[in-house]
Parts: sequence; structure tokens; C-alpha cells
Amino acid sequence: MNNLFRKKSIHMMLEQSKGHVLKRTLGALDLTLLGIGAIIGTGIFVLTGIVAAQSAGPALIISFILAGIACALAALCYAEFSSSVPISGSVYTYTYATMGEFFAFLIGWDLMLEYLLAVSSVATGWSAYFQSLLNGFGLHIPKILSSAPGSGHGGVVDLPAILIILLITTLLSRGVESSAKINNIMVAVKLIVVLGFILVGVFYIKPSNWHPFMPFGFSGVLTGAATVFFAFLGFDAVATASEEVKNPQKNVPIGIISSLAVCTILYILVSLILTGIVPYNLLNVNDPVSFALKFIGHYKIAGLISFGALAGITTVLLVMMYGQVRISFAISRDGLLPKIFSTVHKKYKTPYVNTWITGLVAATIAGFVDLTTLAHLVNIGTLAAFSLISIAVIIMRKTHPNLKRAFKVPLVPLLPIISAACCIYLMSSLPSLTWKAFIIWIAIGGVVYFMYGRKHSHLN
Ligand code: ALA
Repeated sequence: MNNLFRKKSIHMMLEQSKGHVLKRTLGALDLTLLGIGAIIGTGIFVLTGIVAAQSAGPALIISFILAGIACALAALCYAEFSSSVPISGSVYTYTYATMGEFFAFLIGWDLMLEYLLAVSSVATGWSAYFQSLLNGFGLHIPKILSSAPGSGHGGVVDLPAILIILLITTLLSRGVESSAKINNIMVAVKLIVVLGFILVGVFYIKPSNWHPFMPFGFSGVLTGAATVFFAFLGFDAVATASEEVKNPQKNVPIGIISSLAVCTILYILVSLILTGIVPYNLLNVNDPVSFALKFIGHYKIAGLISFGALAGITTVLLVMMYGQVRISFAISRDGLLPKIFSTVHKKYKTPYVNTWITGLVAATIAGFVDLTTLAHLVNIGTLAAFSLISIAVIIMRKTHPNLKRAFKVPLVPLLPIISAACCIYLMSSLPSLTWKAFIIWIAIGGVVYFMYGRKHSHLN
């Protein structure tokens, strides 16, 4: 029983991380850009349309605000952790230090679900804008090869989504990391695309499109919030870079919170304009942002937007794939998953096999499961992680009262409790199929831990 709750000491982790020192080059602005690069993607470019048409209607903006609040609260908790334990490895590492091995494994397992399926979902969005761009040149991929079954567009397999994942896998397995410079260019492209949409679209708003405001009632808005929550994910990428940050205690919290703030403002404006120029019931398309511009006759700008969206979504894909490999790598390095996940390729110096396993599984899922189902699964996994991390802040204050914290969540325990409550509330409005799949995944994780991890843990 004691084994289940054995902890890695924070002191030990800080010492370990001193062994392989990374260069501290990133500042607050770099981190904010890194965050924006990881956040803006399929959520805003694709899910907005589906959610407006199917659950929230023009009240999409309220869904975004609710999801944004839940994220901001969790982000504060993240910021406190990253300012006191500046070690890469994200929530998994934090939990290992506070709640012990069993919870850490489960949360790591849960994060693997999040990142793996996030790769598949983001690729689905990439595919949508790729096709939108091709259509602009008069080229069309046969319908059966263009989307997953269940997405309502008559497809059997989403071929472009599979191919982009395989391409990214090849790059990552050979050690190509997106450099800060490329990331900054991509972020600029993304911001130009989003701002361009806002600046053009604002002149075509017809307030009558905002009526009825809540066609599916408040429960629809809530389901919408639990879905568009997806659009905010990625800010934790900032926390995972903390070993490469100058003055991480100060800069990581600034990076997390400011990237989230910028994205929230942009999302609110985009959702307002999108539902203002196109009647919500017509938005059930995979490329709503460029669809809206075509709707008001701007075909050329729509093409540019598709191109920019494609570039922007690619960076998110890289971050998510990288995140998945890092998490399973960290768990395997601690002995809780088979060694193969942390074996490094001799020439490329990357977790080669791990990257390919991740890529092949994510590609298969992307080919055959529709975006909404995937996004719901990603969200339930993430919301569970966020509620745990909120609670972990309270525990950590009790168990490590003297730990140096450059950033402190205000009003502890109230704020972390509200944060956990918001996450659980959003989880409760996800469909029962999502819950069933989530419970099965966690149960499999429990079996893996008891059959393998507990015996092979390096803490033995
Ligand atoms: N927030 C990321 C996206 O929307 C996952 O693509």
C-alpha cells in the first residue's frame, strides 16, 4: 500500500535536472509566443463552426468565456507549480512529488490520452483546411477519402490527416525540433490570419444573425463550453519548457497567463464575428473561418486564410506530438512503462520507437474517428488533469510550506477549489460515451500500473 503513495522528492528532481543543464535562453515574450503557437489551432479554425451549428448557436461567445475562465483558473495553478518546481515533465512530475506514484502514473496515463488524441484531432483540422485550399485551386479529394465516418460528410477515411501525422512523425523521429525562430514566424502568420478575419469580417456583421441567441438553451451553451475548451489547450507547453527559461520563477507564470489572455480575446472576437456574418445553422462545416469569408464574397482572402490556418495548425501538431512523446518518455524513464518508450536512437538521439508508436496510433485514430468525438475525449482527459493539479496546489502548500514560490495562486484554498469545481462541472456536460471511454482508458491504466509499473519502478 505504501508503494502506491511513494513520492519522488522535489529536492531529488531538482538535483537530477542539474545533471543535464539546458541553456536558459527564453524570456517572457518568447514564452508568450511559444504559448500562442501551441494554443491557436483546430479549436478556433474548425470547432467553432461545429459548436455554433450543433450546440451553442450565436451564444458561442458565452461558451468561449466559460471555457476561458476554467482554463485561466487552472493556468494559475499551473503557474504556481512551474514557478516552484521548474522541471520539465508537466503535471506528471508535479503529481509524483505531491500525491505519489500511483496518482502520478494515472495522471501521466491520462495525459497520454490527451496528447495522443489531440494529435489526431488537430490533424483532422489540418486536413479540413488543406482540402479547403485545394478546392480553391479547383482540386477535390474523393469524398470517401476526405473525412472520417461519423463526421456527417460522407467519408470513410480521412487520408490527408493520416498523411500529415506520418510526415510530422518522420520529422520528429529524426530530431527536427521546431526552433524558436520558426515558431515565432508561425505565430506571426497565425495572428495575421486571425486579425485579418476580424478586420474584414467586422464590416459584414448582421445583428439579426445573433437571434435567437441561445437556440439550444443554456445546456447547449454548456456543452459548447466543454467542447471549445479544446481551443485553449496547449498553454501547458509553456510550463514544460521551464528548464530553458531565464528566471523561470517569474517568466513562466507571465508566459502562461499572457498567452492565454491574448488567445481568449481573439477567440471572443472571432466567435462574435463568425456568428454575426453567417447564420449559425449554416456553420456545420470543417473550415468555418474561410467558409465565412467566401459567404461574404471574399474568395481570395479566404484562400489566404486557409493557407495561414494550415501553417498555424502544423505548429500545434508538432507541439502535441512532442508533448505525447515527452510524457511517455518521462514515465518510462522512471520505470513505470516499458523501456522501449525511453530508448534513444543512436544516430538521431530521439526516442525513435516511441515517436513511431505514437505516430502510427494517432494516424489510425485520425483516419477513422470524427473531430467532435475526439475533442470530447481530449477535453475529459485534460479537465481531469486540471482538477487534480488544482487540488495538488492545496496539498503542496501543506506538505511543502517553505518551498520558494515566485508565483502564488491568490486565495488558496478557495481559488483552487473553484478551479477544480469548474473543471468537474464542464466534465459533467460531456456525453456519456465520452465518459465510458474515459473510464475504460483509466481502468486499463490501473491494470498496466499493477501488472507492470509497480514492479519496475525505479523507486523500488
Ligand atoms: N488548442 C489547440 C487547438 O485548438 C489544441 O488546435
